[in-house]
Amino acid sequence: MKLPFRKEPPTIIAIDVGSRLIKVVELAAGEERPQLLRYGISQLSPDAVVGGEIMDRDLLLEGILSAFERAGIEPGQVVSAVSSRSVIVKRLLMDQMAADVARELIESEASNHIPFDVEDVCLDFQVLEPDAGEGKMEVLLVAAKREVIYEHLQLLREAQMTPKVIDVDAFAIQNLHEALGIDQSLYTLVNVGSEVTSINIVREGIPVFTRDFAAGCNSYLETLQRDLQIPYEEALNLLGKGAEAIEAEEAGQESLAQLVEEIAIGLERSLAYLRSSGELEDLGTIYLSGGGGNLPHLKEKMEERLRMPVKAVDPTEALTVGEELEARIRDDGSATLLSVAIGLGLREVAV
Ligand SMILES: Nc1ncnc2c1ncn2[C@@H]1O[C@H](COP(=O)(O)OP(=O)(O)OP(=O)(O)O)[C@@H](O)[C@H]1O
Ligand SMILES: [Mg+2]
Repeated sequence: MKLPFRKEPPTIIAIDVGSRLIKVVELAAGEERPQLLRYGISQLSPDAVVGGEIMDRDLLLEGILSAFERAGIEPGQVVSAVSSRSVIVKRLLMDQMAADVARELIESEASNHIPFDVEDVCLDFQVLEPDAGEGKMEVLLVAAKREVIYEHLQLLREAQMTPKVIDVDAFAIQNLHEALGIDQSLYTLVNVGSEVTSINIVREGIPVFTRDFAAGCNSYLETLQRDLQIPYEEALNLLGKGAEAIEAEEAGQESLAQLVEEIAIGLERSLAYLRSSGELEDLGTIYLSGGGGNLPHLKEKMEERLRMPVKAVDPTEALTVGEELEARIRDDGSATLLSVAIGLGLREVAV
């Protein structure tokens, strides 16, 4: 029997629509930490999203529904994110003023700060430092392409979801990092997805520099398929089984080395830029998330190449996870894949 006045506290459903994997989690408030109630991951055909563009909407819808089905979650209100690829993040110094006046000014002057037509973007901002000296304040401006947000909303609605919040994936990972309670004044988040690696350099809790570059797990996956003469799905499943399973075959080593090189160059370029503008001298600890977290010894190889400490992110450490669920996550190597979804959910869940 359920008494009518004992209402269950609402749970939070977060979805991360990647270009190859769709991840969904359901979280609830917990005693010590929020709880992971369910999760589901579905694979998308490589034809569904190509170069960040939706090529086959039906495949994508199918994928979203299948992730919910696997998780055993009913579609409903969701928190989700667009990729940092479609967003511009900038820090600005402006005269000190009230937030509402600042908003008007930023909107009217946005064209000076972003390379898109102002009519085509949704803007938001946050005051980072109300007193940055000499009567100035520092604000963080975030501009997302209207079309991308609209398309994303449309997609979720078609999948019978009610979008509640749309965040940015890079910020979701930063939020996760904060929830993990790692107390560091400087760190760099590196999310290695299917086709894109995104980095977010965070200093004193503020994203100082975000950037994406085309490097990801796919090139490695394709080599694995070729070297082992196995189909796409099998190669994907193999990645979930961990380094030993693949290393035994000695497959894909060259393409892994190439990926490490691409990521290292991307990071070094960003650092060189920040050094030249006098902003930063180093990247702090590097935290690896996304599918890349499962590539055999990617972490160690990055460490060796960059000579910087690299750590793997385990988003489940920010949560209470039941034994059965924990075993499932371990078995299919999905912890690293859930970073964005869990980071999104954590922002909304009541503590
Ligand atoms: N356990 C796993 N199961 C399936 N794929 C995995 C696994 N571990 C790593 N991978 C690799 O990670 C990729 C997916 O990573 P991730 O979910 O971070 O990317 P995405 O969000 O789909 O892509 P993007 O962010 O670039 O749009 C897969 O394409 C595969 O190459
Ligand atoms: Mg992703």
